Amino acid sequence: MKLIFLGPPGAGKGTISDLAVDKLGLPHISTGDLFRAAVKDGTPLGLKVKGIMASGGLVPDELTIALVEERLARKDCAKGWILDGFPRTIPQAEALEKIAGVDTVVNFDVADAIVVDRLSGRRMCRSCGKIYHVKNMPPRKEGVCDVDGGELYIRDDDKEAAIKVRLETYRKQTAPLIDWYGKKGSLLTIDGVGSPTEVLGRFEKAIGR
Ligand code: AP5
Ligand code: MG
Repeated sequence: MKLIFLGPPGAGKGTISDLAVDKLGLPHISTGDLFRAAVKDGTPLGLKVKGIMASGGLVPDELTIALVEERLARKDCAKGWILDGFPRTIPQAEALEKIAGVDTVVNFDVADAIVVDRLSGRRMCRSCGKIYHVKNMPPRKEGVCDVDGGELYIRDDDKEAAIKVRLETYRKQTAPLIDWYGKKGSLLTIDGVGSPTEVLGRFEKAIGR
């Protein structure tokens, strides 16, 4: 099963992926997570993308497509995947068509005001990447990951100015993919508002699981 998770920043793509991967037995491939790992490790790619990500802009298509092509060629992708945050532009979607077929594109529909509230309260574990929210999904102990005791941090792009840019970037460059995939007949839009368990339930029903 080859799935794409589409939706604005903060729609819950990462949260629902984390809940769905175990059940579906698919790898979760988040281009944002791959880029953040490169930044953390200080690789040449990480140095190139650090500033772009912090400002809320998009990494150039060539770099992103090359990263995804390499990742999808790995063994664990043979049976399918959840691609979270890719494609994010029409050229990326066209490139993906040449790399792999896609079964379903799941579009998480969430209004801007909710997105801003979710992003401004998000915390992530510096070591394992687990996603929290100070009000909606708090850790048992403030600032500490429940899973591995790692430090929880605020993403550079979760600051107010970057959130604004990310929403504008989403509207201009990524939202056109909703129509693009709609015309191909592979789009499922689900309501992304509600608890993660409720959203997961809608997703499973929509894909027939
Ligand atoms: P990326 O990491 O993909 O960021 P994004 O798309 O902006 O999405 P987010 O990760 O912010 O949100 P999400 O939908 O995963 O929500 P989450 O589950 O965390 O990309 C980062 C950057 O990398 C980009 O800006 C760009 O620079 C670069 N990049 C990545 N891919 C690229 C590409 N293809 N091309 C070019 N550049 C690229 O949830 C958010 C918060 O809400 C959390 O606190 C969570 O706890 C809470 N929450 C989630 N679900 C619920 C719920 N149902 N109810 C209540 N709270 C909830
Ligand atoms: Mg994410």
